[in-house]
Amino acid sequence: MPTMTTPTQTDRLETGYELDRREFFTKLGLGSLGLASAGALAFYYRYLSPSVLFEPSPIVNAGPLDRYPAGSVTLDVDSAIYLVHIAEGYFSLSAICTHLGCMTAWKPELNMIACPCHGSRFNREGQKLAGPAPKPLPWLKTWLSDDGELMVDRSVTIPQLQFLRV
Ligand code: FES
Repeated sequence: MPTMTTPTQTDRLETGYELDRREFFTKLGLGSLGLASAGALAFYYRYLSPSVLFEPSPIVNAGPLDRYPAGSVTLDVDSAIYLVHIAEGYFSLSAICTHLGCMTAWKPELNMIACPCHGSRFNREGQKLAGPAPKPLPWLKTWLSDDGELMVDRSVTIPQLQFLRV
């Protein structure tokens, strides 16, 4: 009756194939373990890192008043705001359409603010004239800095027709 014996060192050396296969599976196992450990470390690093979204300041320095002549409507594309100067004073509006958030544009030939997405129209005070927008364009807190520059806080809305009189 044949008996099962464990291979001796000599047997292993004689049968190089067996040795290579063991080494291969050992290395494969260690490699898999290393990959799994690296994945777990990456996961824990991501899990423990704070998820902070860095946003630009809502405060905009719109520059000196003489940049905005009487009767002007100026779009600041970077800040998505309008700076308006009319006889009653200065004010600023959000340029983001209240329908689905498209950037609006001032159309001087039509004397209105128009949204290119679904056709909403607003007058220069931000009141809706036409289209699907559910609300007027919000007025934003506007003040004059100590240096005489126009400042806007995009995070603070104010009631309409609160002009900055200088
Ligand atoms: S996003 Fe302006 S009308 Fe739809």
